[in-house]
Amino acid sequence: MASVVALCLCGRLSRVCCVIRTVTLTLDPDEPDPEKIERAADVIRAGRLVAFPTETVYGLGADALNERAVRRIFEAKERPADNPLIVHVADRKMLSRVSANVSAEAERLIGRFWPGPLTLVLPRGPEVAPSVSAGLATVAVRMPRNVVALQLLGRADRPIAAPSANASGRPSPTTARHVLEDLTGRIDLVLDAGPTSIGIESTVLDMTGEAAAILRPGWVTREALSDVIGPINLALSEDRLKRSPGTRHRHYSPRARVVLVEKGSERDIRRICEELLTQGPVGFVGHTAVEIQAPAFTRVLIGNDAGEYGRAIYSALRLLDQKAPVAIVVEGVDDVGEGEAIMDRLRRAASA
Ligand code: TXA
Ligand code: MG
Repeated sequence: MASVVALCLCGRLSRVCCVIRTVTLTLDPDEPDPEKIERAADVIRAGRLVAFPTETVYGLGADALNERAVRRIFEAKERPADNPLIVHVADRKMLSRVSANVSAEAERLIGRFWPGPLTLVLPRGPEVAPSVSAGLATVAVRMPRNVVALQLLGRADRPIAAPSANASGRPSPTTARHVLEDLTGRIDLVLDAGPTSIGIESTVLDMTGEAAAILRPGWVTREALSDVIGPINLALSEDRLKRSPGTRHRHYSPRARVVLVEKGSERDIRRICEELLTQGPVGFVGHTAVEIQAPAFTRVLIGNDAGEYGRAIYSALRLLDQKAPVAIVVEGVDDVGEGEAIMDRLRRAASA
């Protein structure tokens, strides 16, 4: 069947039209107003969409047990149907509705890292809406470490499926403004509790194979996981594709081309930028103070540290993208510890 594409009022050509009024509620991140949480929980229970903060990035949430609600997530984000979603839980009881089959190894990881930025891929329970798993027999689940997220889950009293709250393929949102940039008119509610504290998506660890395998590096590092369950590997790209079909899609990308400089001196990076400047405006984000005096050159500097990159990189990519550059030159960080997660996202953005 041919898909119908319409020109929306917002000027976007898309399969869904922006006809929903998106409401934003501003909350204290540590002591959120219970009435606002209750209002958001009502929206979830009604099968509608709520964007909310987690410690990693903002998520776009729907009732994980309601198939119609989950489909709304795919429509709003224009997400490919073969890319499964992460289910968020607030406690063990909720986890048991998502997966009845938690191995002893998974238990040890839960004991150590939950609540926190670790997603476990487990056998899928029968109550979970089928679209959540995109046809797989597994389900990805995590317990976020964010007061607003945990209270929303608790009040809604059901697991919430939530991918990052960006339009599919765009950089993940670390503020409510980023969510609104991509999804205004497509979702019902945004809970704005300020910028997220980590800024990079969770580690995804597959516990359903013979050995645990990292499908997506994140803030819980390979070393930290190995301390609990022994040596562990990043799944090879072919195996990753088989186990997590969604990883084949374009990810984390601004509209502009991303040129990644994994390592380089100020002079090397300046040369690359100057060459690109002959074609048009250029953005640069990194930790080296590249000195170019040209109106068409915009620079965002970040401290040379994975934590600072995590908090600032997606925001910087979105900001530089607004200048419609021919390219954004991005300087890498050391590919160790949390830096592995940063470099994974930057390499994917650069290969899009
Ligand atoms: O930090 C995060 O993980 C954020 C916040 C909102 O929790 N969520 C997030 O979701 O990044 P999303 O949809 O952008 O990324 C989910 C990743 C995708 O790479 C997807 O393919 C993988 O998890 N995934 C989900 N379910 C899976 C499954 N059953 N098997 C393998 N991979 C799965
Ligand atoms: Mg995402």
